[in-house]
Amino acid sequence: MTQSYQTIILEPPVAAVQLIRLNRPQAHNALTSLLLTELATALEAIASNDDIAAVVLTGGDKVFAAGADLKEMAALDMVGVLNDTRPAIWRRIYQFPKPLIAAVNGYALGGGCELAMHADIIIAGDSAQFGQPEINLGMIPGAGGTQRLIRAVGKSLAMKMVLSGEFISALEAKQSGLVAEVTVPEMTIERAMKLAQTIAQKPALAVRQAKDVLLKAFETDLEAGLQYERKAFTVLAGSDDRNEGINAFLEKRKPKYTGR
Ligand code: CAA
Repeated sequence: MTQSYQTIILEPPVAAVQLIRLNRPQAHNALTSLLLTELATALEAIASNDDIAAVVLTGGDKVFAAGADLKEMAALDMVGVLNDTRPAIWRRIYQFPKPLIAAVNGYALGGGCELAMHADIIIAGDSAQFGQPEINLGMIPGAGGTQRLIRAVGKSLAMKMVLSGEFISALEAKQSGLVAEVTVPEMTIERAMKLAQTIAQKPALAVRQAKDVLLKAFETDLEAGLQYERKAFTVLAGSDDRNEGINAFLEKRKPKYTGR
C-alpha cells in the first residue's frame, strides 16, 4: 500500500491484519472530512487487497476520537449540513466488506462513538468511556448514533445517553452489548489484533457472507433476514472452502482454505 495519509497511520500488516491508527492527536482525533475520507479510501484499498483479511482501527491512549471536528462543524449552516458530503463518506466506511474491529481506549464521543459503532466488534480498554454528548451542543448524533446505539444497547440506555449526554464506562458498554470484550488498556490493541488474526485465518468467503448477513439483521424483519441468510448459506455450498472444511473435518485433518 503506497498511498500516504495525513490523518491516519497504516502500520505494516501483521498476519493479514491491518492496524489503522487515527492520527490527529492535537485535536483528540476529532473527525475532519479529510480524516473520514482518508479512512474510507484506505478501507476501500484494503477491500480489494487479497493480502489483508481484517482491520483493527484504534485511536489514542486517552481519546479514541472526540467526535466530529467542531471547528469544521461551526462553519456549516443548515444548507451546508444539507449539502455535506460526510454522510456519503460514512456510508463508504460502513460498506467495508471485511471484518473491522475497533480497539477503543479513553473517550469515544459523538462521532467517535459512532465510528466505533461502524466497526463489527468493539474491544475496549477498561478506561474507555462511550458517549453521545451532542445534546450539550444543541445537536443530536448525526452519523448513525441514534439508530445504531439503540440497536446496540436498547432503548432506555440509548435514550439516557443521547438525551442527557452522560457517558457510559467500558464495563457498562460491555454489559449492554455495545462492546464485546473489556481488557486492561495496555492490551486493547493486542487483543483486537489477536481476534482479527483468528478471524483472518477463517475461510474468507464465509467470513464475508457472515458479516453481510449479520448486518442485514439491522435492516430487515425476521422473515426477510432468514431468507437472506438461506441464500448466503446456499451460495456458500458452491464454494471450494465449504467442501474442504467439511471434508477435512470428516477426514480428521486440518483444512487448507484457498478463498475460492
Ligand atoms: N472538535 C475539534 N477539536 C476538538 C474536539 C472536537 N470534537 N475535541 C477536542 N478538540 C480539541 C480542543 O479544542 C483542544 O484544542 P486546543 O488545544 O487547540 O484548544 C484539544 O482538542 C484538546 O481538547 P481539550 O482541552 O478539551 O481536552 P480534554 O482532555 O480536557 O478533554 C474531551 C477531552 C473530553 C474529549 C473534550 O475534548 C471534549 O469533550 N471534546 C468534545 C466532545 C464532543 O462534544 N463531541 C461531539 C462532537 S459533535 C459530533 O460528533 C456530531 C456527530 O454526530 C457526527
